[in-house]
Amino acid sequence: MRIPRILTALALAASALTALASADKPVIGLSLDTLKEERWQRDRDNFIAEVERLGGSVVVQSANSDDTRQVRDIESLITRGVDVLVVVPHNGEAMTRAMRSAKEAGIPVIAYDRLILNGELAAYVTFDNVKVGELQAQWVVDRLPADKVARLVRIYGAPTDNNAKLFKQGQDNVLDPLISSGRVKVVAEDWALDWKPENAKKIMNAAITRIGHEFDAVLVSNDGTAGGAIQSLIEEGLAGKLIVTGQDADLAACQRIMRGTQSMTVFKPVSKLATLAAQIAVASAKGNLPKAETTLNNGFKEVPCFFEKIVAVDKDNMMETVVAAGFHPAGQIQ
Ligand code: GAL
Repeated sequence: MRIPRILTALALAASALTALASADKPVIGLSLDTLKEERWQRDRDNFIAEVERLGGSVVVQSANSDDTRQVRDIESLITRGVDVLVVVPHNGEAMTRAMRSAKEAGIPVIAYDRLILNGELAAYVTFDNVKVGELQAQWVVDRLPADKVARLVRIYGAPTDNNAKLFKQGQDNVLDPLISSGRVKVVAEDWALDWKPENAKKIMNAAITRIGHEFDAVLVSNDGTAGGAIQSLIEEGLAGKLIVTGQDADLAACQRIMRGTQSMTVFKPVSKLATLAAQIAVASAKGNLPKAETTLNNGFKEVPCFFEKIVAVDKDNMMETVVAAGFHPAGQIQ
């Protein structure tokens, strides 16, 4: 049966209108690893606010650190017909199937904060994660006792998180020459599964069981795990007597820094990162992905990258960084 030409034309017009409508009101799918850490709640809220300010809407899924669930989350967002996907992978190497489904559906994918490996990506929006590690290690090195070999305990992040490897790489950039010269000795090191504070506490307990109190600093990769390690130091009567690093400027960490049980953190203005990612996602939904200054190879292609700036924070510059940026009110930190 021949379909009258007018109906075909109407159907075409309708789908063009829908495309126009979705470009005007893009729907962005946001797939998160977890909402466990304080920062991810901020990322989510700032991202939604900016997409809505730009006339779009956001559908959020959080995978609770489960790869199978995250792939399922992404596939359900694809089925719902989102225009763009923004993903914080739990494991950057476990997203291949989801990336293939997105590609088949013609949906651009933006990796947020953590890189997705071996998959088609439209863009990667993050901080300079190697520099995070360099800032942490340099802060420690600048304050190590000069007259003796400095003994370090190192607690890395989640082995599934590509960022954790970049943080370690940055720390190694600073430490390796000092380790080779014998100025610094790593007396214990391990990876904290899923960035869980309780796993960091176990690592710290195990180190103290093995080496006693024979160390001068604990190089920890983020504030959540620093909190776990410090719990162990408190139980050993060592809290405030040793250098402990962190990252993210969590409220609890900023309070610890002002109290002296944690020494420093790395402030990452996630509101800026989320706003930038929202602008790139909405532009991408309209087919105008902005030009990136640089690219990173994710094992599949050179991915256009957008970076936001970071700063090392301790009690001496807390007010002019974290507080001045409105990240935490002074009254909650002091
Ligand atoms: C990293 C992120 C850090 C930290 C950690 C735990 O990928 O860059 O800011 O919070 O995850 O969620």
